Amino acid sequence: MGKIILTGDRPTGKLHLGHYVGSLRRRVELQNAGDYDRMFVFMADVQALTDNADNPEKIRQNIIEVALDYLSAGLDPTKCTLYIQSQIPELAELTTYLMNIVSVSRVQRNPTVKTEVKMRGFEGDSIPLGFFCYPVSQAADIAAFKATTIPAGEDQNPMIELCRELVRRFNETYAPVLVEPKIMLPENATARRLPGTDGKEKMSKSLGNCIYLSDDKDTVWQKIRGMYTDPTHLNVSDPGHVEGNAVFTYLDAFSTDQDFADFWPEFKNLDELKAAYTAGGIGDMKCKKMLNNVINRMLDPIRERRHEYEQDIPEIYNILKKGSIEARETAAQTMDEVRKAMQIDYFNDAALIQQQAEKFRAK
Ligand code: TRP
Repeated sequence: MGKIILTGDRPTGKLHLGHYVGSLRRRVELQNAGDYDRMFVFMADVQALTDNADNPEKIRQNIIEVALDYLSAGLDPTKCTLYIQSQIPELAELTTYLMNIVSVSRVQRNPTVKTEVKMRGFEGDSIPLGFFCYPVSQAADIAAFKATTIPAGEDQNPMIELCRELVRRFNETYAPVLVEPKIMLPENATARRLPGTDGKEKMSKSLGNCIYLSDDKDTVWQKIRGMYTDPTHLNVSDPGHVEGNAVFTYLDAFSTDQDFADFWPEFKNLDELKAAYTAGGIGDMKCKKMLNNVINRMLDPIRERRHEYEQDIPEIYNILKKGSIEARETAAQTMDEVRKAMQIDYFNDAALIQQQAEKFRAK
């Protein structure tokens, strides 16, 4: 059994720095390391529709935004299969069968879904059934590709856990066809949860505190200039706090020693700057300028690639179409095995036909 990497995003908005440190950067590294047999990255439009049923246009618009984000961040369609969930009907089929081996109460326990239900204000029985069931559909997303490795954030843990359970139950009930996946969490705490520019716990579109991968230089500087720092650091000479200071959290996530050598040689590395800031005498504006340099250095090659891809949008749809056809072949192969294991492959089962013929002939 090979190593199969699979992961995806709901196309409900452009991707931001939180997505980048949390998963996109890792995916590109995994892709380029080449230490896997297949890599699948997809846009979970079916899942996005579970709580956007009345707004398909939003999903439709964001498919291309996310595709541009993927490609400009460095995902390479010759190394990984990029596709759109809805174009793989086998996933819906597998979802249907998996729903038979899970209980309502098991799905209800999912803490991520609970939080999402609260955030969306679904009350009592008003939760759309499709939304309620999306963890099962997500299990199918993974199982249909026999994926072994799911790079994702901590919030996806309950989904992967459910998928593992369903795979085990399927294999026990029918035949050992599916593969139990493992989550691959981001390597450090900052990558797990990047705060917003306002210092709030999480960078999130709904909180309006994001820096997008597609933001231009001016926009990035406006956002960094307005960033939350240390409210007790009123005068430059005051001692500052780096903990809970979003500028420093971002420097933690993004800056390298080379950045210090090039942009702020007074300090060898971030630890030295932190010590000086904590002691007092370092202005917030200087730190923000440093951060601006660091982020632009990181975003510049992404912007360049984006600019190129933007000149040929039809080609992006072609890439996604090719990827979807390729992905579908894999999922269809798994479904052949699934149907056989479930004994619903009637027309391929010559023995069954023979047996039935004899049974009725003997009457
Ligand atoms: N739930 C994921 C998110 O909200 C998207 C997703 C759907 C996914 N299916 C998946 C992620 C399968 C990893 C594997 O971002």
